[in-house]
Parts: sequence; C-alpha cells; structure tokens
Amino acid sequence: MSVITDWTPEKAKAFGRENLMFQHALHERPMFDDEGLARLLDLYPREKLGVFTMGEDPKAWTTWRKGSAGNLTGDQLLEAAKTGRIWLNLRQTNDHVPEYAALANEIFADKEAHVPGLRTFKRDLGMLISSANAQVFYHLDVPLVSLWQIRGEKKVWVYPVADPYVGDLALEKIVLRETAEQFAFDPEWDKGAQEVELTPGKMVTWRQNAPHRIENGPMLNVSISIEFMTPPALMRANVIYANGVLRRRLGANPRIQEGFGPMALGKLAVARGAKALGLQTPHVRHLPVTFGLDARQPGVLVEPPRP
Ligand SMILES: [Fe+2]
Repeated sequence: MSVITDWTPEKAKAFGRENLMFQHALHERPMFDDEGLARLLDLYPREKLGVFTMGEDPKAWTTWRKGSAGNLTGDQLLEAAKTGRIWLNLRQTNDHVPEYAALANEIFADKEAHVPGLRTFKRDLGMLISSANAQVFYHLDVPLVSLWQIRGEKKVWVYPVADPYVGDLALEKIVLRETAEQFAFDPEWDKGAQEVELTPGKMVTWRQNAPHRIENGPMLNVSISIEFMTPPALMRANVIYANGVLRRRLGANPRIQEGFGPMALGKLAVARGAKALGLQTPHVRHLPVTFGLDARQPGVLVEPPRP
C-alpha cells in the first residue's frame, strides 16, 4: 500500500509546485509510540540532537534558544518534551537510524512512484518531538519540505513566496547564508496565509521557499519533516544564489527564472563559479547553548547548562 493514501493525478501533477494536503497512515505505526520514540532518542547521536526552547510571542524570533540534552535517557527526554516547553529536532534521522532510513526510502519511493518524472535527492527525514504550545517562528527553507503529523495537533501558516512576506533580497540573504532562516514577521500577514490544521494522518507540503510558522496545540506533538531537492528545486536555489552574487558584485537587479532556460543555466554557472571561488562568505549564526535539562526534573530548563 502506498504511504500517501489519497494520491490523485491532479495532486501528483501539482506536487513540488503548489501547497498541497495529503492523507497518510504513518501515525498508526507502533514505531512512534512512547516506547519507540524513547528508543529513537537513545539511538540518535546525542551530539546531533537539536534541543530548543522559545518564547510565546510569534514575532519574538530571537527568543529561540539552544539547549543541551546532557546525558538524559530517551525516556527522560520524552518526559521533558511532555512536561516542558522544548522542541527536539532530530535532523537526518535517516542517516543515523536504520529503521528510519527504511522509512525514508519508503516515503520517497512512494513519491517517485506517483509523481511522473519526479527525481529526489539530498533526502533528509527529520523527527520533531515537541512540547504542548511550543512554536516555530516565521522562517523559510531552501529545499522542498513536507510535514507529516504523527501525534498531537498543530497549526501551520503558509505564506506566499512574494512581497511583503519574503522579497527577493530576503530570499537571497537566506540562500547565501548571510542571515538566519528565521526573520521578521508581521502578524497582519496571517490574513494572506494559508492556515492548515494538522492532525495525525495529515501531511502538508508547500511551494519551495514559502515562509511558514507553526504553533502546537496543548499536547505533545510528533511530526516528520521531510526535506529534499529535485532538479528544478536545486536549479531555483542556484538561480537565487547567482542573483545574490550578481547583485552584490555587479550591482545588478536580477529576477528569478524558473525552469532550465539559457538565463537560468548561465546563472547556474555563476553560482557554481562563485561557490568554487569562495566569493560569498557564509555568516552562519551558531546559537550558543544557554540551557540544560535535569534528569531529576525533566521538564525544567536549567540555566546555565551543567557541563
Ligand atoms: Fe521549516
């Protein structure tokens, strides 16, 4: 049986290009029950585990803070997610845990089987285990994304890829890694957003680079975040990259071309050349670790973190 249970020819055709909702049955699998998640947290490389907390105001993206899981067991970490206000991000779970490598293969095989001509690479299956009412601030991602709800409920706002939500300049800054992926948000923009209620068994995917933000319902949330590239998606990222270089080096005012026309191919060469020459220095902001977790009181943030 296919992973997505409601493929239609129309959805297959629009996949990767439009915002779409799908149904799936992954939430019925026992690997995502408490026991399965605790074992996953034990197996996943601890130094790669993203532990975050955040404030309550959706505009206050600078309240996003990084923590350390220390040597809490998987059971204790899951307890911390249930009782605290944390966001656990297990990026590239498919590279570290065989069961999740198999799951990623299954999901991508399903996509490629149903979408004519689809080819995917840079495949990243991330697990998100997050507390009641936690949020992810307004941001965008360079690759294509799909978000699969497994447990709990969350609301996702997806904004147009256009001014004022995100202009070409802001997009270039993110692709050139001059700035963090999270950026200024005006609550007025919610009026122009597509609002999606995610419950177990639902998946949402959106246009490449669409800004989005997430608010959890009042319960533990478990979701799968799938990021991937396709040839057109990688082309678009390179065109944006080249535009950024041309704007900075030549004072040009370039536009984004979709597809593989001569202008886009020329920009691909510009992007490759600029990367090879190291013309753009990324300014990746590494968040400092500012809190830890305590095995005896798992939901409590300990500041400063214990060594
Ligand atoms: Fe995202």
